[in-house]
Amino acid sequence: MKQILITGGAGYIGSHTAVALVNAGFEPIIIDNFSNSNKNVLQGLEAILSKPVKYYEGDCNDRKMMEKIFKENDLQGVIHFAASKAVGESTQIPLTYYSNNINSLIILLETMKEFGVKDIVFSSSCTVYGQPDELPVKETTPRKDAESPYGNTKKICEDILTDHIKSGAEARVIALRYFNPIGAHPSSKIGELPLGVPANLVPFVTQTGAGIREKITVFGDDYNTPDGTCIRDYIHVMDLADAHVKSIEYLADKKNNFFDLFNVGTGNGNSVMEVIKAFEKVSGKPLNYEIGARRAGDIEKVWANTDKVSSVLGWSPKYGLEDALKDAWNWQLHLGKEKV
Ligand code: WQD
Repeated sequence: MKQILITGGAGYIGSHTAVALVNAGFEPIIIDNFSNSNKNVLQGLEAILSKPVKYYEGDCNDRKMMEKIFKENDLQGVIHFAASKAVGESTQIPLTYYSNNINSLIILLETMKEFGVKDIVFSSSCTVYGQPDELPVKETTPRKDAESPYGNTKKICEDILTDHIKSGAEARVIALRYFNPIGAHPSSKIGELPLGVPANLVPFVTQTGAGIREKITVFGDDYNTPDGTCIRDYIHVMDLADAHVKSIEYLADKKNNFFDLFNVGTGNGNSVMEVIKAFEKVSGKPLNYEIGARRAGDIEKVWANTDKVSSVLGWSPKYGLEDALKDAWNWQLHLGKEKV
């Protein structure tokens, strides 16, 4: 069975990617330090897959741990999710973000080289575009100064990967620039588990719908958009997971020194108010919201041009906004009233 290491595999996108890999005939191996994920996710995966997923509790910055994993398994490739990813937090503890997100990639690439593992899919982010000058945004749209240390670590990691390939390394790399992942596995056995007060829109919406949060604040309705609220490209996490499988499969017959990058979004932009109205429709519940001040660092509007990912990887989204919100809501109902 072709083994794929998923770093941060107990996380939101990582766990859904583990399911997609198994469904495509791969054997996922997870490493996670559980700093921003929960071991219950492993039980959810076993419930969906009817078998356990092999995992290691550890940190990608721990070279000895990484060498142990590569020694004990016959890895075909790696999907690298593990990173600190909270935009706001990154402005408070930038050194932790630069150290964790950059050192872990370097240690991973060095370990891959040591064990002759060539294929890596890297989790990047549309945040590298900042507020793009053209919409929908293409892979060739110039990157901008990052809005946060988190976003800057993504730009730096992309540069590390391209320089690694330029040096002639025997590696085959795909970077995927995510837009806004939302939703959950249709079984409601895995989903998004924000720790504490959610920073992101959709978990805050579902927690408000569930009565965990009293109301949601819409961060500004005075933007230059049709309804004044910010526009994003919300992509179902199952579609995003599928893009990772397509990337691993695509790398398998590439030459030994390869790099490419893809936007992974739906190609559609939706405003905050459109998300709220769509949630009210799929849940059948009115949502308690108020209009508040803009959030520092928010960009006004971004959504993906997906021509390249569909023509080159043969990937396209299967789900729309309402499907994702329905799955997110069912997951919230499964979680009940617990605040994680
Ligand atoms: C979406 C919209 C908010 C909460 C971030 C990272 C990005 C990626 C996804 C990691 C914005 C508005 C939100 C609320 C609101 N993370 N909002 N009230 O900021 O687009 O992207 O998360 O890779 O890199 O930058 O996502 O969900 O936080 O916000 O009005 O209570 O919802 O202002 O317009 P964002 P988000």
